Amino acid sequence: MLTIKNAAEIKKMQAAGRVVQDVLELMAQMARPGITTGELDAAAEELIRSRGAIPSCLGYSGYPKSICTSVNEQVVHGIPGKYRLKDGDIVSCDVVAKLDGFHGDATRTLLIGDVAPETRELVKVTEECFFKGLEFARVGYRISDISAAIQAHAEAHGYGVVRDMIGHGIGRDMHEAPDVPNYTGGRYGRGIRLMAGMTLAIEPMINMGTWQIKVLSDGWTAVTADGKPSAHYENTVAITDGAPIILTMSEGSHA
Ligand code: MF3
Ligand code: CO
Repeated sequence: MLTIKNAAEIKKMQAAGRVVQDVLELMAQMARPGITTGELDAAAEELIRSRGAIPSCLGYSGYPKSICTSVNEQVVHGIPGKYRLKDGDIVSCDVVAKLDGFHGDATRTLLIGDVAPETRELVKVTEECFFKGLEFARVGYRISDISAAIQAHAEAHGYGVVRDMIGHGIGRDMHEAPDVPNYTGGRYGRGIRLMAGMTLAIEPMINMGTWQIKVLSDGWTAVTADGKPSAHYENTVAITDGAPIILTMSEGSHA
């Protein structure tokens, strides 16, 4: 369902978003060669719960952990476990927390030690894609304007834009209407019109090579079809009558 949030509800979503942001900052401090993704997950769960929030992913459609940790060619929904991060890896930490009835959802792809320059470039451009999309997260535009801006920036760098996994509305439910794709076949001006009070998880997932992905036999882990790396960058955003508010980033911060 597409829900319009009032100012009080957006404040609550910002509080949930603050928890998510703090978890991502902890992940960035902890993610070093030698730590396991399971250890990251345990620390994330502990911080989320210490703030009176709930890890939204845990138990969602049977998902077994609190966060997603997608390493290298893993695109999304990597399950934390015994894998030990090593020098040169990238790991996308996707964190969703529910506080006072509302979810916040954000992802950062973290660099582990000495990452290859072309992989660092992929991570940087994926973050840029989010901000290109954000320019259209305003009343007067439509969903596909966000998508087309993301797609154009990624494809200008020769990257593959994941089509099978998409952003989404978010609020009392982790996934609400509308869908927020990152790929439109280049078309602007389609999809529903943006309205003040919509809250969206905008989340480019960008592959170094082909856009195609497959899901591993664990039923969750999505990997690139060609085994090349993938990056992910996500924030929860509120549409307003003016500039969008990034609910998973405090004012002025760009972390
Ligand atoms: N941010 C991810 C998404 O929107 C969170 C997935 S939680 C999981 O799909 F349980 F589905 F893994
Ligand atoms: Co999401």
